[in-house]
Amino acid sequence: MNYRLLYAMGFHPWEDLAEHRPYADGLLRLVAREEEGRRPPFGAALDVGTGSAVWGVELARRGWDVTGIDIVEKALNRARERVGKAGVEMRLMYGDVTKLGDAGFGSDFRLILDTGTFHGLTDDQRAAMGSGVDAVATTDATVIIDCFAPRRRGPLPRGASRADVERAFPGWDVTDVEVADTEPDMISKLFRFDERFYRLRRNRAERSDDSAGPDPAAVTSGPVSLRASPS
Ligand SMILES: C[S@@+](CC[C@H](N)C(=O)[O-])C[C@H]1O[C@@H](n2cnc3c(N)ncnc32)[C@H](O)[C@@H]1O
Repeated sequence: MNYRLLYAMGFHPWEDLAEHRPYADGLLRLVAREEEGRRPPFGAALDVGTGSAVWGVELARRGWDVTGIDIVEKALNRARERVGKAGVEMRLMYGDVTKLGDAGFGSDFRLILDTGTFHGLTDDQRAAMGSGVDAVATTDATVIIDCFAPRRRGPLPRGASRADVERAFPGWDVTDVEVADTEPDMISKLFRFDERFYRLRRNRAERSDDSAGPDPAAVTSGPVSLRASPS
């Protein structure tokens, strides 16, 4: 996708998902799981391919210390405007999600959110994003990625399967796969987006909180969970 062109044209329909309750509620339910039993501030969150920071602002409002990164200046300008209007704190950075390890972030992100970037990348870019996330995430971090189902859609994102996600994140387990939009609109149906939220946690061997018992955060959530297994 030529996001530079799309933002220049003022065409960014993915932003509307914030107002689409079946999608927004599902995503925020997943985020809420990472907040359970804690009080804000919840820790550092990275909004990968933040766009105009629709979700970054939402995370900041909830009490996350959010950094958003994107490669399109125009998107970041919109993000700055949105952050200002919302009156929240959110760091915005120009950068490439396939080079997160070089961004000087450190490794304290507890939550990594990607709504719509990974699924449009090439296999090599996905692997690079996976290892970058690996480098910047805490040992007990959670990754949430939203992907269209894999399918040829012309210039639209080709989507990604669970196996694609697992291949790009070899040090992580997919703990949940949830239908991202239980009430898709006409366009989503036409292009068969069949969107899924993937929730990932590090493999047990890689986690510092690996204290034998089950992962308390890895429980089945919501009626639309397709698959949930303790990580
Ligand atoms: C479908 S939009 C989603 C934006 C935002 N996450 C949202 O849900 O509103 C995908 C975003 O990924 C960004 N993007 C694509 N490839 C990127 C890359 N290699 N590095 C950083 N951002 C990238 C685009 O500029 C665009 O803002």
